[in-house]
Amino acid sequence: MLQGKRITLIIGGGIAAYKCLEVIRMLRRAGASVIPVLTKAATEFVTPMSVAALSEARVFQHLFDLKDEAEMGHIQLSREADLIVVAPATADLIARMATGQAGDLASTLLLATDKPVLIAPAMNVRMWEHPATQRNLTQLRADGIGMIGPNAGDMACGEFGLGRMAEPTEIIDSIIGALGPRPLSGTRILVTSGPTHEPIDPVRYIANRSSGAQGTALAAALRDLGAEVVFVTGPAQVPAPPGVTLHRIETAAQMLEASLGALPVDAAIFAAAVADWRVQENFTQKIKKGAQGTPKIEFCENPDILATISHHALRPRLVIGFAAETENVVAQAAAKRARKGCDWIVANDVSPGTGIMGGSRNTVHLITAEGREDWPSLPKTEVAHRLAARIVEALK
Ligand code: CTP
Repeated sequence: MLQGKRITLIIGGGIAAYKCLEVIRMLRRAGASVIPVLTKAATEFVTPMSVAALSEARVFQHLFDLKDEAEMGHIQLSREADLIVVAPATADLIARMATGQAGDLASTLLLATDKPVLIAPAMNVRMWEHPATQRNLTQLRADGIGMIGPNAGDMACGEFGLGRMAEPTEIIDSIIGALGPRPLSGTRILVTSGPTHEPIDPVRYIANRSSGAQGTALAAALRDLGAEVVFVTGPAQVPAPPGVTLHRIETAAQMLEASLGALPVDAAIFAAAVADWRVQENFTQKIKKGAQGTPKIEFCENPDILATISHHALRPRLVIGFAAETENVVAQAAAKRARKGCDWIVANDVSPGTGIMGGSRNTVHLITAEGREDWPSLPKTEVAHRLAARIVEALK
């Protein structure tokens, strides 16, 4: 898969550094060569010896190592590889990247490189959520830096939340995405994602628990395979992926308009949790409590975006819907596939106990004209990769 590719792997100083040993092993197995760079803090977590042994390569550590400069200057080193991967990307390393510092070998390479850079952040959840870190990440995204994870889960520090470094398989998938074959290049794919917000009055709205994680993961997976992705998203909790054509909307009506505006496309995937109803009356002023008692709100049905595009004159070659169900998941989803006129339905059980809506894992059933497949519980990113692989096959 990565035969002949060269990856500079910058290992930062975090507990997740141990996972990099597995990343190195997997890269070597995939045919890539690895140029390992350790920060000073990284050596507290993994030894240069183990990194050298697994990568079968010289480990670079110090900016002012004259021997290095004689053999290969740091500018040359920064351009040696096809891709630079930073894992774990600690809060400190991210901050130094965002501000363009060059105080050690790792940050100097990152500042001097002209090659694509992927980072796999890993840190305590509070550090991840801190406005300073989020500001730095926004800057790095704007600078075109690719991101892998982080995932949510238990942390070495005993807390729970976002901040766990992505698993080695996810890191390898992203590297393949960045460097590997691009079977979807030349295709254009629409992805809808996230919830919609339907206003009640100027200050209130109706929403749902969709985080946008599954749609975002799908858009990123399709982009990595070379597709031009038109990403129409409601107000999601997860950030939109870089490298897609982004349309931010709030209501179902706006999502329909943006989706129709994206046509023609080769495939369309409707991962959004669209509100079925909107408030009929247009309350232009805030509804006040008072003598008239509790408000009576009348609803009317929203347009069905999936059904509209499934029956459109410019119908894409492949139309995929999602089905969020809380009972009789497969039967309801199969009926939905027929009713809406799409090719495939990805069905999932969104009952509160499953933790799927708003969570990081998904258990889906893929329902097609040929029948049904039950997939195991997987991270949403993995569901996205599998689905993207199927889309590649279908669009061949
Ligand atoms: N969908 C859509 N437009 C809508 C409602 C849903 O495009 N107005 C799409 C969703 O993006 C998803 C699929 O239709 O791909 C099914 O959504 P779901 O909420 O599961 O179904 P509903 O249409 O709401 O049907 P039901 O009320 O029977 O659950």
